[in-house]
Amino acid sequence: MMKRIGVLTSGGDGPGMNAAIRAVVRTAASYEIDVLGIRRGYAGLLDEETVHLGPRTVANLIHRGGTLLGTARCEEMKTAAGLRKAADNIGKFGIDGLIVIGGDGTFRGAQELADVSGVRVIGVPGTIDNDLWGTDATIGFDSAVNTAVEAIDRIRDTAEAHERLFFVEVMGRTRGFIALSVGVAGGAEDILVPEVRTDLEALSASIRERMAAGKRASIVVVAEGDDAGRAFDIAEKLGHGLVMDFRVCVLGHIQRGGAPSAQDRLLASKLGAAAVRALVEGRTGVMVGLISAKVVETPFEETWVTDKRLDTELLYLMKVLAR
Ligand code: F6P
Repeated sequence: MMKRIGVLTSGGDGPGMNAAIRAVVRTAASYEIDVLGIRRGYAGLLDEETVHLGPRTVANLIHRGGTLLGTARCEEMKTAAGLRKAADNIGKFGIDGLIVIGGDGTFRGAQELADVSGVRVIGVPGTIDNDLWGTDATIGFDSAVNTAVEAIDRIRDTAEAHERLFFVEVMGRTRGFIALSVGVAGGAEDILVPEVRTDLEALSASIRERMAAGKRASIVVVAEGDDAGRAFDIAEKLGHGLVMDFRVCVLGHIQRGGAPSAQDRLLASKLGAAAVRALVEGRTGVMVGLISAKVVETPFEETWVTDKRLDTELLYLMKVLAR
C-alpha cells in the first residue's frame, strides 16, 4: 500500500511542468496518498529541501510556466557518495515511490537511484527538446515551438520591411526537433539541424538563388547544436559572400518560459496522472509517455538509448514550400 510519494522536477525547465505537478498531487489525493515535493531537483533531495503538497497547494498552477518546485542540474548526483546520500534521504522522508519530471539526465539519475535505494521510480518526460524515445512529444515542446513561431512571425515583419536575411537560433543542444517544427510552421527558407550535415556553400548558394528569384527577405532557423556552429558563427562565415543585409537573433531561454500551450497542459495532466497510477499498480523504472494518444511505459534506459528519429522529410517539404 502506497502512503507517500515524492515528486521533483530536474534539468532544464519547460512550460507544463507545473501542470504535471498538479496532476500528480491531485491524482495522488484521489488515492489518499500524501505527496512530498522535493525542491530543486536532485540537489534538493541531497539537501533535504522538501515541501508538503496538497490539492490546494497546487491551485492556480495549471497555466504557469517554470516549476513551483524549482529545478537544477546536479553534479553530485552523478557520484557514488551523492547517490548513497540521496538513497538515505529517500528512506528518511518515508517515501514509497518517486516521480521525476525531466529529461534524459533526470532519468539516468532516477535509474541509478532506483538501483541503489530500491525505491520505485516513475519518469514523466518534461523538456522542451522532445529528444526522448517513448513519447510522441515531451511536456514543454509544443509551448516552446509556439513561442518561437510567434517570435519568427515578428521577425518576418521587420525582415520583409528591411529586405534582410535573418538567422534565428532556437534551442536544441543535440537534436533538431524544435528547429524543424519551428522552421516549417514559421515558413522558414532554410532549417539547420544537428542530424543533417550543414553545407555552408550550398546554403549560401540557395540564399543567393532565392534573391535572384526575387525573394528579398529570408529566415534561416538554426538549431543551437548544429554541426556548422551557432547562428552567430554561421552568419559570420557566410556573411561576406551574401551581398544581402543580415541579422542574427538568438531566441534562447525565452523558449523555456511562459504559459504552457493547451496541448502541453493536456499532456502534462494525462502523464502526471499516469505516473501516479503506475506507482500504485506497482511498476518502477519506466517513463510514462503518450504515443498515438495512448499512454505507454518505456524502460528508462530505452528513453535515451533508442534514437528518436527526426522526420527529415519535413526538410524537403520546407524547401518545396519556401520557393
Ligand atoms: O535541455 C533543454 C535545454 O533548453 C536545451 O535545449 C539547451 O541547450 C539547454 O537546456 C540550456 O541549458 P541551461 O538551462 O543550462 O542554459
